[in-house]
Amino acid sequence: MAEDHLGQRTQSLLARGQPFLKGGSRYEAVAAASQGQGFLPPRQLIVDRAEGDFIWDLEGQRFIDFQNGWATNPLGNCHPEILGAVQAAQKRYGFHWEHPLRIPLAERLANLSPGQALPRFSFEVSGTEAVEAAVHAALCHTDRRYIIAFASSFHGEGLGTKLISAYDAQNYVGLEAWSGGVIRAPFPHSEAIPPGLSLAQYQDYCLWYLEHHIPQYVMAADNIAAVLIEPALAEGGNWVPEPDFLKGIRAICDRQDWLMIADEVLTGVGRTGTLWAVEHADVIPDIMVVGKHLSGGIEPFAGFSARDDILGDNPRATSGSTFAGTPAGCAAALKTLEIIERDDVLTQARHLSGLAAAACADWSERFEIVSEVRGLGLLIGVSFQGSRANGVHVARSVRDEMLKRGVWALCDFQPQVRLYPALNMAPEVFLQGLSAMAEAIETVDRKGPTVGDYPARPSGNVGF
Ligand SMILES: Cc1ncc(COP(=O)(O)O)c(C=O)c1O
Repeated sequence: MAEDHLGQRTQSLLARGQPFLKGGSRYEAVAAASQGQGFLPPRQLIVDRAEGDFIWDLEGQRFIDFQNGWATNPLGNCHPEILGAVQAAQKRYGFHWEHPLRIPLAERLANLSPGQALPRFSFEVSGTEAVEAAVHAALCHTDRRYIIAFASSFHGEGLGTKLISAYDAQNYVGLEAWSGGVIRAPFPHSEAIPPGLSLAQYQDYCLWYLEHHIPQYVMAADNIAAVLIEPALAEGGNWVPEPDFLKGIRAICDRQDWLMIADEVLTGVGRTGTLWAVEHADVIPDIMVVGKHLSGGIEPFAGFSARDDILGDNPRATSGSTFAGTPAGCAAALKTLEIIERDDVLTQARHLSGLAAAACADWSERFEIVSEVRGLGLLIGVSFQGSRANGVHVARSVRDEMLKRGVWALCDFQPQVRLYPALNMAPEVFLQGLSAMAEAIETVDRKGPTVGDYPARPSGNVGF
């Protein structure tokens, strides 16, 4: 069972890293907590090689890649044209801040921005920095002190974004002295509707809370700079709001004179089947944050777009860092956008999304453990029944069974398995992955979560 669960090479590399890596001892605790309840510890995987729709682990086993570098590879692994563009830029410029590629990229992003209304672009390195810079720009532009963010949102792991995100109350422990400018609002989760309400009523309540409760009881409207929202809450569990919710937020922002900031770090550049997820609701934000997909999974790259009056001349809104907008990052982004347009990748993504909708349509009826399947484009989440703690083990067991069948998906600390296939994944590979997932769910549904008689084993801190 041990070899089955974790191969020899993986085990020994994890054991080697355990004393040196941040959090190296944490896996022990997580594994012990699982084992204490009779479940298998979460399985870890180390990528040895990545190409197209697949990755191979250190034991040489091939997996269909639904993990996608945490939703970062829109065109699959190691796209040769993006690699080529990156290598050419590195060879020509090495690293200099003052390279020419920034300008055509900013111009292209302006043309592609929702409604072509966000012409200014600020280059950042990570999504975290980009969200923090966007919030700062909003505070400086409005000369106000507060922003509104939503329950179970995730915006990053920086000091500012930790305080803004709300996916786990544990995240603020130790940071109490730093908080202050964030107001949290409820989000209409489709699976956590208060008893007696329909989803539509719950959504109306959330909008009412935003527009009436907050200004009356929490903070004066004229001290609120912006509402920050992920158009689909990804890390929090792939929650997809109804388009009316985003429309409602836009309308409230207009009435209250608040800015709307869309965090499209994960949803942007095609993940939901449109270039930007806000397009599903036909909404134009005032500021939009981008990252992940934009550089094709090859280079760190992020930034934010904004209205001309917000970013054209906002001297206090300083941001950026040495490696913001590297030549390689800009080359990767230009090439990624070129391929997405040239190969009509968004149409491919929508086709795959339709296949997924058909393949998963009956899962919540067919399998007792599945409570909901939801998705927008290729942001797909499957939720599992049970108390929060138990649901996590059910989800992890499904992920384990998927790994046994050669499919790698994401399951973090929520009772969900999340899928982020490449936008151009071969349809037959995609369907094969979904069918293996259905088998995995069926196995856990029939046998119960994978429990085990587990041998003592080495540990590491590679993501699980
Ligand atoms: C919506 C969203 N915003 C911001 C971030 C942070 O981006 P990064 O990890 O590049 O700092 C993430 C990362 O998952 C994200 O999903």
